[in-house]
Amino acid sequence: MNQSIEVRTENLRKQFGDVQAVKDANLHIAKGEFYTFLGPSGCGKTTLLRMLAGFTSADSGSIYFDDQIVNDIPPWKRNVGMVFQNYALWPHMNVFENIAFGLRERGIAKSEIQGRVERSLKMVNLEGHDKRRPSQLSGGQQQRVALARTLVTEPGLLLLDEPLSNLDAKLRVQMREELLRLQRELGITTIYVTHDQEEALITSTRIAVMSEGEIIQEGTPREIYELPYTKSVADFVGTSNLFSAKIIDVSQDLLVLSSDEIKNLQVGWQNFFSQAPPIGSLVEFNIRPELIRFSKEDEIINRILGTVESTAYLGSQIQYVVAISKSKVLKVNTLNLKTNRFYELGERVELTFSPHDIALLHN
Ligand SMILES: Nc1ncnc2c1ncn2[C@@H]1O[C@H](COP(=O)(O)OP(=O)(O)OP(=O)(O)O)[C@@H](O)[C@H]1O
Ligand SMILES: [Mg+2]
Repeated sequence: MNQSIEVRTENLRKQFGDVQAVKDANLHIAKGEFYTFLGPSGCGKTTLLRMLAGFTSADSGSIYFDDQIVNDIPPWKRNVGMVFQNYALWPHMNVFENIAFGLRERGIAKSEIQGRVERSLKMVNLEGHDKRRPSQLSGGQQQRVALARTLVTEPGLLLLDEPLSNLDAKLRVQMREELLRLQRELGITTIYVTHDQEEALITSTRIAVMSEGEIIQEGTPREIYELPYTKSVADFVGTSNLFSAKIIDVSQDLLVLSSDEIKNLQVGWQNFFSQAPPIGSLVEFNIRPELIRFSKEDEIINRILGTVESTAYLGSQIQYVVAISKSKVLKVNTLNLKTNRFYELGERVELTFSPHDIALLHN
């Protein structure tokens, strides 16, 4: 097997006309990581991945594989395997030939090719499809052939551009698990592109959240979800309840916040700021729906009254939208346990949360 690659970039940039597709990307991805670029459509994920593969040239900045600068090395000499967003299978070749191509290029013996192609087809659940042309396969099947074609060469760096986007929900989960198992087993450094935040949280060792060509936050799935740095990260990853409020008091570890909708909320600040922001300033914060509780008796702190505006039954969970003022709602998720009661539409409820369950945000 090939040695897995450590990837570093320094101030990597790419511009298309007026669009700054990637702005000063500084990455450091360790050998064997499963690293994900996560962000909305057009934020530069594919461009960054293509620069790492060598299919798009950088305007400036450096790319290092281990200690070697690879900017001027062509894609086929970089020891990378890439699955493209649009599969890019060769239409005139059947499935077997598509997968075997990379092995032939590398001079692998004919006797070995047959077995390796079969194994890779098995990995993606497509045994027996080797004689078909891409045009005779569904989108999801083509996507799996593209994955097999890349895995079969056992590259030192695996670049995957939304490789599961065309699969139905069940197959997607199955392929994701298979991919993760393989990735861990082979230890291949993997860079994965998705705009599916749940998929990113499940698979990744670390995530880079991108917006308009920039990496706006990098961290483990837990850090990204629980300590989002900005409003856009909080909003893009998971469901959020975003607020802006004024600081009316500060103590050793708590801020007291008030706005038109919420009064005297107590919020722990030490995880978010090196020193407490001054009284009178505005802060933004987020509270996740699963951290809000329906309370049974009068809470002393962080008590919010509201009216149930909608309910959604998801089997394992119940999701509520609770109006807390004319213009503001709180999304609240509860587990569907026998011990939790169901709240009716229009019911007056009391909500609460711990001061340490709130994430304070930066501008
Ligand atoms: N070859 C190109 N010529 C001109 N503009 C381009 C080119 N490739 C990408 N862009 C632009 O650069 C920006 C980033 O595109 P990119 O394909 O990297 O986004 P993405 O994050 O992969 O989006 P998606 O999730 O839709 O695939 C977009 O504004 C896009 O229109
Ligand atoms: Mg893309």
